[in-house]
Order: sequence, then C-alpha cells, then structure tokens
Amino acid sequence: MKSLRFRLLFILTLLITITYHASVVAREKKYQEKKTYIIHMEESTMPVSFSDRIQWYDSSLKSVSDSANMLYAYTEVFHGFSTRLTAEEAKSLEGQPGVLSVLEEMKYELHTTHTPAFLGLEKDEALFFPDSSAASDVVVGVLDTGVWPELKSFDDTGLSEVPKSWKGECEVGKNFSSSSCNRKLIGARSFSNGYESVYGPIDENIESKSPRDDDGHGTHTSTTTTGSAVAEASLFGYAPGTARGMATHARVAIYKVCWNGGCFGSDLLAGMDKAVQDGVDVLSLSIGGSISDYDRDSIAIGAYGAMSKGVFISCSAGNGGPGSSTLSNVAPWITTVGAGTLDRDFPAYVSLGNGKNFSGVSLYSGKPLSDSLMPLVYGGNVSSSSNGNLCLSGSLIPGKVAGKIVVCDRGMNSRVQKGLVVKAAGGVGMILTNTDSSGEELVADAHLVPTAAVGLTTANAIKKYMFSDSNPTATIAFQGTKLDVQPSPVVAAFSSRGPNQITPDILKPDLIAPGVNILAGWTGAAGPTGLQEDTRRVSFNIISGTSMSCPHISGLAALLKGAHPEWSPAAIKSALMTTSYTTYKNGKTIQDVATGKPATPFDYGAGHVNPVSALDPGLVYDATVDDYLGFLCALNYTSTRIKTVTNQSYTCELGKKYSVGDLNYPSFAVPLQTSSGQGGGSSAVTVVKYTRTLTNVGTPATYKVSVSSETQAVKIVVDPESLTFSKPNEMKTYTVTFTASSMPSGTTSFARLVWSDEQHNVGSPIAFGWT
Ligand SMILES: *[C@@H]1O[C@H](CO)[C@@H](O)[C@H](O)[C@H]1NC(C)=O
Ligand SMILES: *[C@@H]1O[C@H](CO)[C@@H](O)[C@H](O)[C@H]1NC(C)=O
Ligand SMILES: *[C@@H]1O[C@H](CO)[C@@H](O)[C@H](O)[C@H]1NC(C)=O
Ligand SMILES: *[C@@H]1O[C@H](CO)[C@@H](O)[C@H](O)[C@H]1NC(C)=O
Ligand SMILES: *[C@@H]1O[C@H](CO)[C@@H](O)[C@H](O)[C@H]1NC(C)=O
Repeated sequence: MKSLRFRLLFILTLLITITYHASVVAREKKYQEKKTYIIHMEESTMPVSFSDRIQWYDSSLKSVSDSANMLYAYTEVFHGFSTRLTAEEAKSLEGQPGVLSVLEEMKYELHTTHTPAFLGLEKDEALFFPDSSAASDVVVGVLDTGVWPELKSFDDTGLSEVPKSWKGECEVGKNFSSSSCNRKLIGARSFSNGYESVYGPIDENIESKSPRDDDGHGTHTSTTTTGSAVAEASLFGYAPGTARGMATHARVAIYKVCWNGGCFGSDLLAGMDKAVQDGVDVLSLSIGGSISDYDRDSIAIGAYGAMSKGVFISCSAGNGGPGSSTLSNVAPWITTVGAGTLDRDFPAYVSLGNGKNFSGVSLYSGKPLSDSLMPLVYGGNVSSSSNGNLCLSGSLIPGKVAGKIVVCDRGMNSRVQKGLVVKAAGGVGMILTNTDSSGEELVADAHLVPTAAVGLTTANAIKKYMFSDSNPTATIAFQGTKLDVQPSPVVAAFSSRGPNQITPDILKPDLIAPGVNILAGWTGAAGPTGLQEDTRRVSFNIISGTSMSCPHISGLAALLKGAHPEWSPAAIKSALMTTSYTTYKNGKTIQDVATGKPATPFDYGAGHVNPVSALDPGLVYDATVDDYLGFLCALNYTSTRIKTVTNQSYTCELGKKYSVGDLNYPSFAVPLQTSSGQGGGSSAVTVVKYTRTLTNVGTPATYKVSVSSETQAVKIVVDPESLTFSKPNEMKTYTVTFTASSMPSGTTSFARLVWSDEQHNVGSPIAFGWT
C-alpha cells in the first residue's frame, strides 16, 4: 500500500514538472554543480579584527570560495548564513574556525492534499471564543505561499492601532503595495533568494515576487488563524454561514517562503528569523519535509530559536497517514498538529440501476445530472493504459466513455484532475472511489464534472454491481450541506501517525484539530481546484490537510496568549493538550476513519482540541530552555550539536543521569524492549520511571490522580497520588513508575493519567510500544 505521502510527492513533482518543464530543467542544470548550504557560526569566536558579523561571515566564505555570495545572514533564530557551494567547498568550510555546522538545505512542501478543493467548514461554534480585546496585541506570523489581501477576511474595522512594539513591514512588490496591509494584516514579506538560487529568477508571469498569494494555500491558512468574521460566506453555496478565523481580534503577518517549486530551507529560516525579529507571538507552519535529527532540520532549529524568545510554534504533522511513523515536525518545542473531521458534510447520492442508493460527498456546483440513469463504466475497463482505473491524463478512450458515468479510483493524480480527464473524454459524470489507504474518508471537491466521492465499502458495492450487471447504469444527485454528522470528529485517514521516529519517548502528534473540508479565504489568482483549466474565482474555498488543522491551533494559541500573556509556549501547548478530549459524548473513543475503529494516541496525541477548557486548564506542564538542554543531553548530543540547535554553550554534566522521558512533557510515550529469552519471570520485567512537574495556573486546590489503562502488561504507579497547590504558580513534582512485562515486538497499548480537582481535569495520554 503506497502511502498518501508518496502520492502527494508524486503529484507535487508532477505539478512542478508541468509548470516549469523546459525552462526549469535548463535553469536547474546551470545551477546544478552548487547546492545551498546553511552555515551555523559560533558567534563568541569571532576575531576582534572584524567590525561586524557579516564581515566575518563573508571572510570565512571567501576563504573557501571566491565566487560565493551570501543568500541570507541569520540573526534571530540562530547565527549564521546561507550560500551556494560545491560539495568540496562545503567540506572545507566545515573545518574553518568558528563554523559550528554546515548543513545542506532541505526542501519542504505544503501539507495540503494539494488538490485544492476538499470541502469543509469550520463552524463548530464551541471552537470560538467570545471576542477578547486583550487578543488584539497578539500577532500570528504565517509562513506560507503569501496572501490575497483584498479579501473581507482581512477587514480591519474596529481594530485598534498596530501594536507599538511591532517592527514588521509591508514589502512592496509585484501586485502588492504598502496599502495592501492594514490593522489586521500588519506585515507581509517574501523570501526567494534560496528558491531563485536553485531555479533562477522568478518568472513573474507565473508567480509574483512579492507577498501576493498566487496559490491560495497561504490565504487559506492565514485566514484560518486570524481572519475577520465575514457573513454569508460559502463556496458556491456550500458550507454557508459566517466564516471567521480562530482569533478574530489578533493580527496577522505573512512571510511568503513557498513558491511553485516548493519551500527551501534557506528561505524558510530567513522567514522565521525575520518574523521573530518583527515581534510575532505565534508562528504557524503548514509545511514539512523529510524527517531528520533536530540539528539537521531547519524547521526544528528555527523553531528552537523562536521558542527561546517566547514564540509559540505550531506545525502540521503531515499527510502521510494512515501508515504508522509518518510524522514530520516532531521536535518537542514544536506543537505538532494532526487532523480530524468536522460534523458537517456535503452529500451526493449515487443511485444504481439495481435500485440501490448510496451516499457520497461532493462540492460540484454546475448543472446537475438528470434523474434518468446513464451507462456506468469502470476507468480500468475503458482505458488504453494498465492503470486506467486511476483516470490519469489521456488514458481514457473517448469512444468508450462518451455519455457515460466513469468510476475512477483515488491515487496518483489529483481527485479534481480525474474529473477533468473524464470530462475531456466525453464522460458526463464521475464516481470517485476510495481504496484501502483512504478507507471511509470522504473528501469533497469543487469538481468540474458532476462527481460523487464514495468510501471504500460503497466503492466495493458499486463495483460488485458494475462487474456483475450486463448493462450497469447510475445517476448522481447533489444535496448541498448537511450538519450534525456523527460521529465527529474522526481522525482523518491522511493525518500522519506516530510513533515518533526521531525520539520514540516523546509522543507525537501532540493533538488534532479540524483539518477536513475547511472553509477559509482563497486567492483570486487561481480557481478552487487549483487546476489551470478552472477559470472560476472564489473568495472562500474548502480544502483539507494537516495544513488546515495547524492554523486552527496557531489561532487558538493566539487567543490563549491574549488571555494569559505571561504563559510560555510550553504552558500554552500544555493547556491545549491536557484539556483535549479523546471520547465522544457517549463515552466511546474518537474513531479513525481509515479503519472505522477507535483511534489511539499515536493517531490523535492528547486528543481533539477543546479551546474553551484550554483557557482554564488548572495546571500546566511548563518547560524552559533548561529542560530542552537536559533533553538534548539525554539524547547524547555533543556540545557542538547542542550549540547548533540551541545557541548555547552547554556542557552536559558528567555523571548526571539525563533521561529523555523526564522532559516535562504533557504526554507520555514509553518504548519498551521485548525480552529475547523465552518465558517470563523477573528477567522479562522492565521498570521505567518518569518525573513530571505541574505548575498551578488556577486557584488553590488539591488534585488527585487517576489512571485508566487498557493493559495488564504494565503496572502504573504515581507518587504522590495527591498534590495540593496553595498559591498561583506553585510547582509540584510527581513520578510515574511503569513496571512492564515483555510483550511481542510490535505490540502497542495505551493508558491515560488524569489529575483532577473538582473543576479541572488535567489529562495525559500514555503510549506503550514494545520493540
Ligand atoms: C545567542 O546567545 C548569545 C549569548 O547568550 C546572545 O547574545 C545572542 O543574542 C543569541 N543569539 C540568538 C540568535 O539567539
Ligand atoms: C493583482 O491584484 C489584483 C487585485 O488588486 C487582481 O485583480 C489581479 O488579478 C492581480 N494580478 C495578478 C497578476 O496577480
Ligand atoms: C437516496 O437516499 C437519500 C437519503 O436517504 C435520499 O435523500 C435520496 O432522495 C435518495 N435518492 C434516491 C434516488 O432514492
Ligand atoms: C472490468 O474490470 C474489472 C476489474 O479489473 C474486471 O473484473 C472486469 O472483468 C472488467 N470487465 C470487462 C468487461 O472488461
Ligand atoms: C546515551 O548514552 C548512554 C550511555 O552510553 C546510553 O545508555 C543511552 O541509551 C544513550 N541514549 C540515547 C538516547 O541514545
């Protein structure tokens, strides 16, 4: 089973190839001998002969390459620069005095299921706080594809002056003027040096070298964080209602770091560096790349620098689900966000010639099909190619498709592209069928041909009829927006899952938030499907991905920051996590749509965000840079690696026992060994002890612990079982001892630990995994 991520990569690659094709290939060749490197410098070793850092960087650079120029110098989230070098030059730079590390740039991508046009809507009223004026000093920085500032979502009516502390700018460029910003959109910048050093100068006929969003993704994520309320919003009448971001009174600043060909590490770091310097309080990154150690990952390093300056960072978990160990952005100082569904749907009914009637979803808005039945064919039966079932471009035979409804399987090309392929071959409609990897997850798109997307069970029933009837027929009826869909939320099939591949002792994702069928602002430069053939223009679009769930958490973090300006990023994360819920009102565990079974903490982390409770969590698991330094010591990082991540000269204490599990994290992951010998007995028992410290952010109270576990294989003892807090900000420490029997390798099991006074439940998931 190929993962969605694999397909996504393929689609992205395809898109890039199509958009750029010849010109890029040629340009890339020209630039090919050199690669972009990010160089971390040890500032304290700068010789006194240099008057400033830039001069010193330049001199270090010139000592290995006469021709190299700096792409960026970084000052806020770490010290250093980026540049283009050959492999040999990079190698010799590594040996230069003052050079901490030389890191080849990584390429990142957006975390939408980039077929822009899922649908959704975000109006679970419980998600929205009453307006709070304290929130208006909070600034959310969004690193993405830019912004479409003319939208009503950026209306600044009623907002006070821009906070005095704000140092950002509204950069003027192609189709973007200083008046594009206002009291809502208070800053906008773009970063393309890294991108252009790979692909050559930006072609402004294709994309604007300015904060202007030609894609839609950045406008969607930024309006989700902080968009002003817009009445009567919808996508072609779907998901009608008032559209608003999470923190309607907070400000937003845009850092465009993603371009048609992707997001480059050097640009991304420049964006984070500038955002922190400008004075953002929250950073939102719906972007990810391949996973690597913290000292090799630009997002992790930039996020550390931002966190150390009090900035909260949330990142998308990735769309690599439903396979396990598919997460990105797992550093413990990042809040890693997976995706769940909302309680609304966009039903479309498929009626078959045998009288059966099945439900699916659609955002189709054109002329409906007639009630009369039309011939039904399977893509795999009317194609010249071996994977015709996928309805890839040019693969359907018009003579066998004209006037018919075509069944196409999900995978490889985008869902909306398949519809276009059917239309081009003369088909009148499409039934888009899920396969094993998407299960029952229903993804609605603004298709250009009448289409119903159906889940796996329905797909199998339709195929069974189609392959057994000599003259199969069908029609599709569209029914608009349906509310109160249950159960909801369910974990999205695409949402990336744990365990954490880099540090199995830290549970990730941290939590889930709405990420399926989300309605938010859209660019005026592209249609809702993002297809070139789609000439429709909309102010709102409905799309899906952990790209959409991440900005929900960023916006909610801005609200918490407004309500509790003194809270650290770790305290905000803790409040969001320990108040999350893992069950429905009927007590049943949140489901995983990929399996139809109860989901686990490897799918949803601490659970689904519950913003109103997060405002008053009672207790928090706080953490400072010292905690993270201890964490890196426990990972056996050398002082150079620690310096690379943290900008601190820190030597781990010899003889001190550092433990990864002791990081003051709001959740627990306990990797356990499968004992190699046969039989049990004492030799097969592992004892693991974790320490945690709680800080009182509520009123004086006594909390008692309770632990519920689904496994007999691990005994869980908490000491002490009761904690009394008599004043604000008081801290109390407890330990949890896990005594585990050996289980077969691959076994997982889960428990939950809750500290409760009469008013607050401070919950933490516990995940066990035997290897
Ligand atoms: C790194 O640490 C030094 C010394 O504490 C400090 O002066 C500098 O501002 C820090 N730089 C960054 C990028 O945080
Ligand atoms: C420039 O912005 C205007 C909105 O002010 C928009 O109508 C136009 O399409 C944009 N042009 C490009 C090339 O993005
Ligand atoms: C199919 O079922 C739905 C829901 O029960 C109903 O609204 C719709 O009218 C039915 N369509 C047909 C053709 O029977
Ligand atoms: C259509 O494809 C299905 C699945 O590959 C196959 O079972 C069936 O025999 C095909 N039907 C025809 C008429 O070729
Ligand atoms: C760090 O090194 C110690 C001692 O060699 C070892 O016991 C421990 O497992 C290592 N920790 C990690 C996370 O690799």
